[in-house]
Amino acid sequence: MAPLPDEARDEIRRLQRHYEQRQSALLPALFVAQRELGWLPPQALQEVADLLDLPLSEVTAVASFYRFFFLEPAGRHLILLCTNLACLLNGAEDLRRHLEERLGVRPGQTTPDGAFTFRESECLAACHLAPMLMVDRERFGPLTPREVDELLERYRAR
Ligand code: FES
Repeated sequence: MAPLPDEARDEIRRLQRHYEQRQSALLPALFVAQRELGWLPPQALQEVADLLDLPLSEVTAVASFYRFFFLEPAGRHLILLCTNLACLLNGAEDLRRHLEERLGVRPGQTTPDGAFTFRESECLAACHLAPMLMVDRERFGPLTPREVDELLERYRAR
C-alpha cells in the first residue's frame, strides 16, 4: 500500500495548528487519510500517529470506535441505519430486514459489487426523521422500504 500523498501529509500537519491539543486533530486527520485511500489500512494509521506524534494504540482505538471509519476496504457508499429507540419504534427493524434482502449482506458487510457498505448505528441525531438512515453524509427519513429502494438505485448509479 502506497503511503499518503505529500499533500495529505501536509494537510494533516496543518490541522494541528487549529487545535490546542494534538488529540483534537485526530478525527479530522483520520478523515483526510480515509479520503485519500478509501479506507484506513494499518500503514495509514501509523502515518497519522507519526504525523500527530500520538501513540498508534490511541489512533487505532479512535478509528475503530467511530462508524464513519473503515479498517478494511469499503464500498463506494456507506449506509448507516439508525437502530436506536426512536427509529426502532418507528420501523427500523423492517428497514434492516429490507436492506439485508436488497443488498444481500448483513450489517457490517460490503456488497459484492463494492457499491455499499452497510452498518447499523446508534442515534444519528435526526430522531424527527425516524425511521432514518444516512448514505455517506446525507440523512433520509422517515423512510418506507420503497423509498429505500429508490435511494439504493440512485446511489448505486454514482
Ligand atoms: S433514534 Fe434514530 S436518529 Fe435518533
